[in-house]
Amino acid sequence: MSFTLPELPYAYDALQPYMSKETLEFHHDKHHAAYVNTGNNLLKGTEFEGKSVEEVVKGSYGKNQALFNNAGQHYNHIHFWLWMKPNGGGALPGKLEKKIIEDLGSVDKMKEDFIQAGVGQFGSGWAWLAVKDGKIAIMKTPNGENPLVHGAQPILGCDVWEHSYYIDYRNRRPDYLKAFLDNLVNWEHVEEMFENATK
Ligand SMILES: [Fe+2]
Repeated sequence: MSFTLPELPYAYDALQPYMSKETLEFHHDKHHAAYVNTGNNLLKGTEFEGKSVEEVVKGSYGKNQALFNNAGQHYNHIHFWLWMKPNGGGALPGKLEKKIIEDLGSVDKMKEDFIQAGVGQFGSGWAWLAVKDGKIAIMKTPNGENPLVHGAQPILGCDVWEHSYYIDYRNRRPDYLKAFLDNLVNWEHVEEMFENATK
């Protein structure tokens, strides 16, 4: 098995005005495609050929940096497209909301800390909600890293590489993160990943 670029689960203009058609065209068709193509070239002849994306991410971490960067970004972007939907944001599903309040204080506090994680990630990287030791935690990672290589299961991630927001928000990363949480997140999908992570 090699890496395959998934189709976007909505039209390129479906997330406007919060994420433009131009951003999605570049982000999906150029950036994600490049991670897939480069990843496939780097996979050839390694022990990771035929493994799942998750297995490649975990196995290559700290061993094969170039492959890890591309496999990590492939994993992150597969989910990033699914973590958004047209008319996203809004109320959280009950079970997920209850757990967030239990572990992080409140939904508002979670949003505040998530934005802070994204803003505080110096340079390129990701802000996360992840399940670690049975609890939901806020995390941030540089470049293509994700919670999988830090003993946690990601349930929501926001790409804070400039390619994700510069066309629409220029340097206003906090505004992008706020728009992501309030208007783009597919909380039903987050809850589904939460359920899978706590099974
Ligand atoms: Fe990206």
